[in-house]
Amino acid sequence: MNVTVSRSAHFNAAHRLHRKDWSFKKNNEIFGKCNNPNFHGHNYELVVSVTGEIDKETGYVIDMKILKDIIKNEVEDAFDHKNLNLEVPEFKDLNPTAENIAVVIYHKMKSKLNPNLKLEIQLYETPRNFVTYKGN
Ligand code: NI
Repeated sequence: MNVTVSRSAHFNAAHRLHRKDWSFKKNNEIFGKCNNPNFHGHNYELVVSVTGEIDKETGYVIDMKILKDIIKNEVEDAFDHKNLNLEVPEFKDLNPTAENIAVVIYHKMKSKLNPNLKLEIQLYETPRNFVTYKGN
């Protein structure tokens, strides 16, 4: 019997969408205002969902305190109030789109979880725009 447990979290971060190997004109055509050289910010909302068997002894899929601490260490401490392009090594050469941020969060968190647990990341860049990544 698999059950999914979820926890939400939040971080503020700045980014700029552009490719170093494209001209400013092409970056502007593709990324528009998101290519602003002075960066811009988002209030990111994160929903982390973990699916697995209920532990017979504890009754938990995962102790929420453990999940909370992994989110804090891997996401909030790493991204909150940061410039993703300049301060977060994963985005040095990776465009910090919501898609890529979700994939980076997935891999950072997956490595800290029991391998038997399935992980799903939902990342809201705005209240209406969100992406989902659950591996592969
Ligand atoms: Ni943006």
